[in-house]
Amino acid sequence: MKANIAVLAGDGIGPEIIREALKVTRAIEKKFSHEFTYTEAITGACAIDAVGDPYPEETHKICMAADAVLFGAIGDPRFDNNPTAKVRPEQGLLRMRKMLGLYANLRPVETFESLLHKSPLRRDLVEGANFMCIRELTGGIYFGEKGRKDNDNTAFDNCVYTREEIERILKLGYEYAMKRNKKLTVVDKANVLETSRLWRQIAQEMAPKYPEVETQYMFVDNAAMQIIQWPKNFDVMVTENMFGDILTDEASVITGSLGLLPSASIGLHTSVFEPIHGSYPQAAGKNIANPVATILSAAMMFEYAFNLKEEGALIRKAVAASLEQGFVTEDISKENAKSTSEVGDWITNYIMAH
Ligand code: IPM
Ligand code: MG
Repeated sequence: MKANIAVLAGDGIGPEIIREALKVTRAIEKKFSHEFTYTEAITGACAIDAVGDPYPEETHKICMAADAVLFGAIGDPRFDNNPTAKVRPEQGLLRMRKMLGLYANLRPVETFESLLHKSPLRRDLVEGANFMCIRELTGGIYFGEKGRKDNDNTAFDNCVYTREEIERILKLGYEYAMKRNKKLTVVDKANVLETSRLWRQIAQEMAPKYPEVETQYMFVDNAAMQIIQWPKNFDVMVTENMFGDILTDEASVITGSLGLLPSASIGLHTSVFEPIHGSYPQAAGKNIANPVATILSAAMMFEYAFNLKEEGALIRKAVAASLEQGFVTEDISKENAKSTSEVGDWITNYIMAH
């Protein structure tokens, strides 16, 4: 098939991990006789430096015209340590999500047999854990009115959700539950927050339409605890924007490393595929970052955006093989660490040979 992929490498380790993911997509292209075009565009701190805008109009046009977006990471300590900065790299990512209508972020949490010993949890707790976290991505406290008053001495961030926003994400949750093990956990804070009570009300209205699915309601603080206590009890979890952000960082480390988890953001326009980790500025330019989450994001791109299942499966197989062989970056093995590009090359060679 022919496809046009927008490539937004971003900041920090972004360019290095994207470089390895592109080796992989080029290998897939060759092996399965596809024809992809790649269009690079700037976002994040590097776009602020270049044109003063973390998500320039030109970048948005490239994303809208593409069949999929492969995204690295954004963020820069220059901005993190400056709370009064008016323009921030993260605004670029948020604006991209909003403008592309990416209301759902799919974050599969899967464990790798060969990495169970790296998990901070006991093997018997984590072995076989496999769940899908569906995070609402364009609403809630991230996008409500925010500001300062009282001479800047009071700050506020409003959390707002509409029925329409809640219904479409819950519907997706139920559809995934139907495709998986038919258990949906709706995570909220309905004992305190009005937005959460609307979530729960709508979930209760929808639940009878999916009689085969067991709906479970869980407060977010309890969910944070249960993810580490009984991760195997989850099948599909659906939650609002900020809870999903926090819970998926937590969930990612039970698999052994934050550097392993991919994500797909889907919605109204072009889908975006990106690792769930950040721009890891301390590692930028050192060729040490783990490229696996981005390579697995490329696998999700083949499966979700292009419906190329065999291609996605081969990438997953290659990644699993690299982990089994211990051909891994330093976040996984300090003693025998390989570089970012060595891991990318190994996975690419495996794909070409199988
Ligand atoms: C994520 C990140 C972003 C978020 C940041 C970089 C704005 O943490 O994708 O999880 O909070 O959504
Ligand atoms: Mg996050």
